[in-house]
Amino acid sequence: MPEKLEFPDDFLWGAATASYQIEGASYEDGKGLSIWDHFSHTPGKIHGGDTGDIACDHYHRYREDVANMKEMGLNAYRFSISWPRVIPEGKGKINKSGLDFYDRLVDTLLEAEIEPFVTLYHWDLPQNLQENGGWANRDTVGYFEDYATLVAHRLAGRVHHWITHNEPWVVSFLGHAFGVHAPGIMDFPLALQVSHHLLLSHAETVTVLKDAGDERTKVGITLNLSPIHPASEKKEDVEAAKIYDGHLNRWFLDPIFYGAYPPDMLDCYGEKVPQILPGDIGTISKKIDFLGVNYYTRHIVKHDPRQRILKISSVVPKEAEFTDMGWEIYPSGIYELLKRVQNDYSPEVMYITENGAAFPDTIGNDGKVEDERRINYLKEHFSFAHKAMLEGVRLKGYFVWSLMDNFEWAYGYSKRFGLIYVDYPTQKRIFKKSANWYRQVIQSNSV
Ligand code: FCB
Repeated sequence: MPEKLEFPDDFLWGAATASYQIEGASYEDGKGLSIWDHFSHTPGKIHGGDTGDIACDHYHRYREDVANMKEMGLNAYRFSISWPRVIPEGKGKINKSGLDFYDRLVDTLLEAEIEPFVTLYHWDLPQNLQENGGWANRDTVGYFEDYATLVAHRLAGRVHHWITHNEPWVVSFLGHAFGVHAPGIMDFPLALQVSHHLLLSHAETVTVLKDAGDERTKVGITLNLSPIHPASEKKEDVEAAKIYDGHLNRWFLDPIFYGAYPPDMLDCYGEKVPQILPGDIGTISKKIDFLGVNYYTRHIVKHDPRQRILKISSVVPKEAEFTDMGWEIYPSGIYELLKRVQNDYSPEVMYITENGAAFPDTIGNDGKVEDERRINYLKEHFSFAHKAMLEGVRLKGYFVWSLMDNFEWAYGYSKRFGLIYVDYPTQKRIFKKSANWYRQVIQSNSV
């Protein structure tokens, strides 16, 4: 690769977070409970019994956090709105203080010349709706539209980039088939039903957001996507890779872009296929302005007849490097993935809405956090994204996960993904070496 890789002048350099992971103030100012409040307070669900009750206390410290973003030179910031903070029961009564908070946050970002990218659903469903079936209940689709309408009108003219959902695969399967995320259900057919309702609610909300906005308003969805590689060239492993690709990637991409669930997956799921009403499929493929891609690693799979449903199992590569999550570091995967999505689905625009790595960062005696491995991780991923752009991929921006260390779901505070170190007992923020490095990348607009 050449020494300096220049990015286009209008390229957006951002960082991402999510409401439950950073806000804290779980019980303040009229906020309702979410499924994550409930789940994290259920014994045994979260590493170390951690909860998001306080998290990074961002609800109170957002001004400092935006000032840090400005210092880092970010020109975009992706965050999510907590549905129960603005509508405590998920439907009906509105919580004015909740809306006011997002108002202030957006204004503070705009003053700092940072473009807000707002995700409507990053997993914190109002607990009250869960008690009526949550995403498995089709009524939730309508409540989501109402919530989107409220927020879109409130922030209209100031927010121009909306993301309906974050990672519907994770919501569906980690939350409803494997039970490791809220609401902690283990029911594969139900998870498929949830995935269908999420996609439906996405599409309905695209219309809501477009109608509430102006000609600058852009709406998209964020998917967690990965290249899937077979463990060997054996026919059954190649087939296994195709099935896992169908499960993780195509089950979401195909309906959004082609208006159809992949036929091989409908076969594979058989009678577990969700209830799809006439008209649903046409609805789901509503045109979006951009696709958000979250990329962390690839997956290697092999055929495994002992496994139910998908009949595959994962293979851990030898001789690879791993992050603190145990995820293989595989930078060329971002290139492979972007090229594939561009070729197969041709979205108008793509953003990397999350990419980053957890490492066991520590503060040195000099008070510094020297996270060389994160710098290398990001440098390599930026470079491979750049290569894809040179080959015609319409990538317009990149959001590092994450702005700061935060509540990493089932792992609690044990995993640090931040560019900024958070010392939880004091809530002190410390720029890691990677944050300073990122500032230089942004300043020079090159890697
Ligand atoms: C993604 C989530 C994000 C964060 C990263 C590490 O799946 O969207 O909230 O937890 O993983």
